[in-house]
Amino acid sequence: MRLAPMLLLPPLFKPRTVALSVAAVLLLTLGAASAAEPAADDTSPSQPPAGERETKLTAEPAPPPPALLPPAPAAPSPAVVARGRHLSRDCTSCHRIDGVENGIPGITGWSAERLAAALDGYRTGARRNPVMGSVARTLSADEVEALGAYYASLKR
Ligand code: HEC
Repeated sequence: MRLAPMLLLPPLFKPRTVALSVAAVLLLTLGAASAAEPAADDTSPSQPPAGERETKLTAEPAPPPPALLPPAPAAPSPAVVARGRHLSRDCTSCHRIDGVENGIPGITGWSAERLAAALDGYRTGARRNPVMGSVARTLSADEVEALGAYYASLKR
């Protein structure tokens, strides 16, 4: 390495000049090397960005867990709805199936719970109506459930 600059120098140069040139080259080389060190340090500051990236990744707010939907009530089986439809023939002579009220209240589209509660009221006497009282007393719990499933399945 020392010889290389010397060989490149023209032979006319005096030894002292050559020695100075070599020293200068060495100094330049060392200077470049020491200058290269900060450069190497410059790449290490580029590590924090990597750390930042890491921070960003960890700082990313975790997506909230999907909201749990309330359990949907079990849909009545088609068989139950069909049975309710069959039983409703005893009702449609008075309660129009299209829900239109003709002096008799419409029950089309009622929820099963609402229908069962009303029929229970007539059955126990909490609701007083001779016709509906006798109708309600002929209905079993299963039939009330089926009627409720059917009427709830209808659009008002
Ligand atoms: C003979 C006619 C008739 C028949 C048949 C009949 N209902 Fe009624 N229903 C009525 C009348 C009248 C009322 C109103 C009673 C009152 O004022 O409380 C009524 C009321 C009701 C109500 C309460 C309505 C409200 O708005 O509060 C329900 C529910 C009901 N009936 C269900 C039935 C079901 C189910 C059947 C068949 C199993 C049926 N009804 C059969 C005449 C009838």
